[in-house]
Parts: sequence; C-alpha cells; structure tokens
Amino acid sequence: MELKKAIDSRQSIRKYKQGEIPDADIRAIIEAAGKAPSGDNRQPWYFIAVKDPVLRNKIADAVEEKASRAAEIIAEGSGAEADRAGNAILKNSGEEELPKAATDSEKFMSFTRRFITFFRDAQVLIIVMSKRPAANFFAKAMMRTEKEQENFLGQLVYKLNPTMQSIGAALENLTLKAVELGYGTCWQTGPNAAWKEIGALLKETGIEKPDYDIAAFMPLGIPEDDQSSPGRKPVDEILTIL
Ligand SMILES: Cc1cc2nc3c(=O)[nH]c(=O)nc-3n(C[C@H](O)[C@H](O)[C@H](O)COP(=O)(O)O)c2cc1C
Repeated sequence: MELKKAIDSRQSIRKYKQGEIPDADIRAIIEAAGKAPSGDNRQPWYFIAVKDPVLRNKIADAVEEKASRAAEIIAEGSGAEADRAGNAILKNSGEEELPKAATDSEKFMSFTRRFITFFRDAQVLIIVMSKRPAANFFAKAMMRTEKEQENFLGQLVYKLNPTMQSIGAALENLTLKAVELGYGTCWQTGPNAAWKEIGALLKETGIEKPDYDIAAFMPLGIPEDDQSSPGRKPVDEILTIL
C-alpha cells in the first residue's frame, strides 16, 4: 500500500468484525514497529501479543474493576475528590468527552467500555512495554556524582523523554503496518490505570519484565465499517516556515 493511503486512511478502530489474524501478520506488524528509530538505538520496547480471549477478558475485567471503584467515589464524592478519581483513571486517554463523563458514574462506566475495554472484542491485544531509561554514555561522561546522574535521568524522563519518543515512533510504524495489512488498531493508554493488576496477570502466565513498564495497549482487529474520527487542525495552524 502506498504510504499516503496508509496515513490518510488510518483511524482509531474501536469496533471489530469476527475473523482470524495469522501469527505471521502479528510478526510482520511487530517487525515494522521494531524498525523505528530510537534514542541511542536502545530499542526500548517489548511487545506481548495476547491472542488468548480468556486472558484478554481478565485484563479488561481488571480495568473495569479499577474504573468501577473510581465510579463509586465519583457517585459519592463531589468536587475535588471526584475530579481526582476521574482524572486518575482517565487522564491519559486524551478524549474531549472526559470531563463530562467523569461527573457521572453511569456515564463513566459506559465511557470506560466504549473507550477503554473495547479491546475485549479485538482479535489480539498488543501490550507495549517500555524499558526504563538508564544513564546513557552522555550522562556518564558529563555527570560525576550519582546525584548528578540521577538529576540528568530525571530530566531525560520528564522533559526530553527519548524513551517515550522512541516508543511513539515504534507505535506509529506498528499502526501503519496494521493498516497496510487491512487491520485496525487504536493506540490506548486508558487501560494503564490498571497497570499493577495487569502486571500481576502477566506474571501468572510466566511473563515478568522487571526493567520495563507498561506504556500502551494496541488492540488489533478486523475493522468494522463506518467508524468516524475527529477532524484535524489545518496545516497553517501547526506549521511555521521561516
Ligand atoms: C497516546 C495516546 C493515547 C490514547 N489513548 C486512547 C484510549 O485509551 N482510548 C481510546 O479510545 N483512544 C485513545 N487514543 C486515540 C485518540 O483518541 C485518537 O487518536 C484521536 O482521537 C484521533 O482520532 P483518530 O485516531 O481516529 O484519527 C489515544 C491516542 C494516543 C496517541
């Protein structure tokens, strides 16, 4: 597929048709992800493709359980407390509807199912792990004391964040390759709220990655038709040529 077509037709896919995704396609998609550039060529990513519907549903249950606890607080609480609970679950999702949904527990749970746990119905759920940053050669050369290195590392994580930029590059490759192969995905950080519980479920399956954190979730499925995407800012609004 032509790159322009893949870029133009990509959209977040949250509804899926029945069908199979062969392992060869999953491998091709992750191979494309792994070809992305990364800071120091650290390739700070690891992917777990959950095909098993039982495990996928357990992960979704863990996320909904977390959300329902937040919904209870929202129902009982008010003002700052409710806002804090809503934000704790949803701050990463980037949805404009969030503040409205988070004021009402019913809406909150329906939002959760529509925008977070819809991956139950995908053929595969790809869990994206991100390797914790370490002091690189530059930090080691420049910073004499451990404290100085720690500060530098703090800057790397919170300001420059090359690890997250690298993960972003990999996930865009992953997404475009999925489109090329006729699949749909939706970049998700909403489920991260249940990272501890999901980590425990993975541990039960024998997967432990102590130096990694869960960064994102990429459901992969055969797209249902008629899904819509929000518009985009025109190029004049996002570009200055000097
Ligand atoms: C870092 C990141 C996190 C996102 N998290 C979620 C999410 O948890 N749930 C969801 O439904 N969409 C999520 N999205 C998808 C965005 O909502 C979507 O990309 C945006 O609304 C534009 O729509 P489009 O992808 O269809 O063009 C996320 C996207 C990114 C890049």
